[in-house]
Amino acid sequence: MTVYFMDGQFVEKKHVAISIDDRGYYFGDGVYEVIKVYDGELFTSKEHIARLFESAAKIKLVIPYTEAQLLDIAQQLVISNSISVGHVYMQVTRGVSPRIHQFPDPAVSPMVTAYALSSARPVEVMENGVKVKSVVDFRWLRCDIKSLNLLANVMAKQEAVEAGCKEAVFVRDGFVTEGASTNMFGVKNGILYTHPANNLILNGITRQVVLRLSRELGIAVVEEPFTLEAAFAMDELFMTSTTLEVMPIIQLDDKTIGSGRPGEVTVQLQKAFTLQIPTVVAGS
Ligand code: PDD
Repeated sequence: MTVYFMDGQFVEKKHVAISIDDRGYYFGDGVYEVIKVYDGELFTSKEHIARLFESAAKIKLVIPYTEAQLLDIAQQLVISNSISVGHVYMQVTRGVSPRIHQFPDPAVSPMVTAYALSSARPVEVMENGVKVKSVVDFRWLRCDIKSLNLLANVMAKQEAVEAGCKEAVFVRDGFVTEGASTNMFGVKNGILYTHPANNLILNGITRQVVLRLSRELGIAVVEEPFTLEAAFAMDELFMTSTTLEVMPIIQLDDKTIGSGRPGEVTVQLQKAFTLQIPTVVAGS
């Protein structure tokens, strides 16, 4: 039996019913998080839940729970669905109300839904690396909010997939911002480059872990935007996300990156990242 969380209750999946008037459905008016589960343990859950509250505050949405309560809900979902390796998805919308653009007045109670699913680590792809495709970043200017409004990301990812690629690389005014659902990194002469955490990217939790590990390993980090041309010339490229961890990129558009194999620094960071997760699943 699959147990979901919906509107204050744990319910069987078949009993989950969302109203057509949910503002998430109409407007994407809400925020979300994806938290990885390794060996039944939530990974960097405090950081994810803190970011959920930050995203909510940025859209003036008050989550009707505390951080500890949401953490508890996530943990209960992992246990009741017997998840060993997988992820928890959690979203909060502005609630159910007849369709008007402005916030409902008086406010309605936000709708919190969550579930836990099994999902394997992408071990094989992580060893070999993937191809990515550049696309124009035509998103809004609040990409720091983990909003449910993902149409531009959906369009970009589809374009990449249709071109036989794993991910789309957003390029705004000639500079690489991030992926459709990942953060982008480049390595040149041993220095790690990534876009600064401003309004043009989501400050990924995996990004933050990788930056911390880089500093611990003595890898120089430059948080500055780099151009698409610079990306082509990088010795190494990789991307990070909750589900893809540290994913090597071996081709960008029609250009091979470095030797066409996962780079040295990338592999070093992959290994360091793996040491952060429970050893039982680290080898799987
Ligand atoms: N995506 N940038 C964007 C636009 C994202 O959607 C994500 C995450 C990231 C990486 O963030 P993190 O390391 O915290 O997962 C960067 C999630 C996984 C998703 O939408 O499925």
